[in-house]
Formats: sequence, C-alpha cells, structure tokens
Amino acid sequence: MTDDKIVLTGIKPTGIPHLGNYVGALKPLIELANNNKTYIFIADLHALNTIKDPKLIKQYSYEIAALMVALGLNLDNAVLFRQSDITEVYQLSNFLMNVTPKGLMNRAHSYKAIVEKNTAAGVDVDSGVNMGLYTYPVLMAADILLYGADIVPVGADQKQHVEFARDIAGYFNNIYGETFRLPEPVIGKETGLVPGLDGRKMSKSYDNTIPLFASESELKKKIMRIITDSKTPEESKNPDESTIFQLYSHFASKQEIEQFRQMFVNGGMGYGTAKTMLFDKINAVLSEPRKEYERLMANKAELDAILKDGAERAKLVAEKTIARVKKAMLG
Ligand code: ADP
Ligand code: TRP
Repeated sequence: MTDDKIVLTGIKPTGIPHLGNYVGALKPLIELANNNKTYIFIADLHALNTIKDPKLIKQYSYEIAALMVALGLNLDNAVLFRQSDITEVYQLSNFLMNVTPKGLMNRAHSYKAIVEKNTAAGVDVDSGVNMGLYTYPVLMAADILLYGADIVPVGADQKQHVEFARDIAGYFNNIYGETFRLPEPVIGKETGLVPGLDGRKMSKSYDNTIPLFASESELKKKIMRIITDSKTPEESKNPDESTIFQLYSHFASKQEIEQFRQMFVNGGMGYGTAKTMLFDKINAVLSEPRKEYERLMANKAELDAILKDGAERAKLVAEKTIARVKKAMLG
C-alpha cells in the first residue's frame, strides 16, 4: 500500500468482539492502521437505530476504544475517535441526502432483509424500520467521504455500503464537480475462518464464541467445552478436523503448529492435554493486551483524553470538507 492512501473504518459499539473478529478483522486492521494514514472511529451514531440505552452505548464505546489501544493501535499515527464527537458528519449526511436516490436505499441488503421478513410474516413491509436504519448507508457514506478515505476495510456484510458511498460520491461529483475521492472496500479473506466451540464458524449468531478478553478462568472453561470426537489418548488424530488444532494455529508460530500437528498424528496425546496447550497458547498471546484493556477500562479519564485528541485531529479534516461541500452546493 502506498503511504498517501487514506484508510478509514468504523466499528459499531455492540459489545466485546470474539476471537474470530480478532483474528479475521481487528488484528489485520491494526497492522494496516500502523502502516498507513488511518482513521478509526467508534460508530456510536450507527448503533442508535438499535441500541436505545445511552449507558450501554457509552460503555460499549469505551470498550472499543480500550481494546483498540490494548491491541497495539499506534495513536501517533492512527486517529481514533468517537463518530458523534464530529458534528460535521450529521451535516454531510444531510447534504448527501439530496443527491442520494431513494431507490438506492431500497436496494440495501440490510433493509431488503427486513422487508422480506415482514412480507413473509404478512405485516407492513416497513414494520420496525426507523429512518436511522433506512438512511444508514447515507450516514456511512458521510463517514467515509468526510475524511477523504481511499481504502475502507470492512466485513463482507458491509461491502455494499461502501459501494453505495462510492456511488453517492459519484452522483455528487457529477453535479457539483470533483469534490470527493472515490472509496474502495477492502474485504478480509474468508479463508482460515476461526472455528467456534462447536466446530462451526465462530459467530455471535451460533452462540459458540470465545470473547477476546475473557478472564483466564472463563477462557479455560470455554476451551474445555470445545467439542471433540471420542478418540482415546493413544489413538492418532486428524489435526485438520480438530477445532482445538485449528484454533491453536491462529495463535502459534509455524514451528509450534508443526509440533502440535505431530502430536495429533502420532497419538499419545489426549484431548484434555491438547486443550490445556491451546489455553496456554491463547492466554500467552492475550494476557498482556487483556491487562492493558482492564487498566484502561478502569481509567476512563485516560480514554476520554485519547478520544478527545482523536476528535480534535479528525475535526480539522471534517471542517475543511464541510467548507468545500457548502461552497460547492450553496455557493
Ligand atoms: P459474527 O458472525 O459473530 O456476527 P461479524 O459478522 O460481526 O461476526 O464479524 C465481523 C468481522 O469479523 C467479519 O467481517 C470477519 O472479518 C471477522 N470474523 C467474524 N467471525 C470470524 C471467524 N469465525 N473467523 C474469522 N474472521 C471472522
Ligand atoms: N456500518 C458498519 C458496521 O455495521 C460500521 C461503520 C459505520 C463503518 N461507518 C463506517 C465501517 C464507515 C466502515 C466505514 O459494521
């Protein structure tokens, strides 16, 4: 990646991520962020259409801030801030409404999924849909265009939203002249999915997750619950069919993975031993970040100062963009 590209992403504050999110999204994001000009924000405005409890949004927002810092986000480089601290984003979202076709919103996957569900249930198509949900992609376009992002790393479910941001930027530029850069989604590889406790993909929807900062005892308990087959310790085991081995391989070095593989294949190791080795490995990787996370969560003033600094840096760019947009639209 060239260093003049701007990377941006938003993380919706909806609770502590799991190990799948860590391996598949957060870890690569932090690597990207530490090597590029990057904006990362806590998308608290995007949480509003579902979470109606301000205390919860605030708590979840602190959790995201603390975990990004604890995982090693370099704050000299990356700008970490809370979406709602930059009022310019509401302004831009509103300006963009005027160039966004309503039909585009009708085509949004997340909205269409609700319409389909309502239709199947025989209720009004828009039942349970608030305008925050319906116009969610416009706010997301504002997030992206406000900071001139080129690269937007997101999960596959958010790809369409980034494409909409690109479309909306295009509509705007066509009418008012070149104002916005056209962003591109970058989707994490689907390969090497982290398995959950039951062997299926680790996912909130399957209730098979291990939380990223589970305490040592919780982590151990979860790992001991991993489902295995009923092979005896003596028997040779297939590592490629083992959730224990697959989880291990996301945290260990090449050499350690190879040794663990041999232990499976050779036989003589019971699943209890394998689980203990897995626990030791994950715990070794996460214990320092976990401590830092807990320290930050107990020091909200430090988190406030980090977010304030981020907001100040983000605002400088946001103000310039709004000035350009106003000039383009209003003269
Ligand atoms: P969930 O399935 O728990 O709802 P999300 O869809 O919120 O997870 O995941 C956000 C991002 O985290 C995904 O786009 C993907 O990059 C990553 N991710 C989630 N689950 C896994 C997994 N089991 N293995 C690898 N990456 C994952
Ligand atoms: N909508 C994203 C999600 O639900 C979060 C988000 C909000 C975002 N604004 C963004 C992601 C801008 C990338 C860019 O996960």
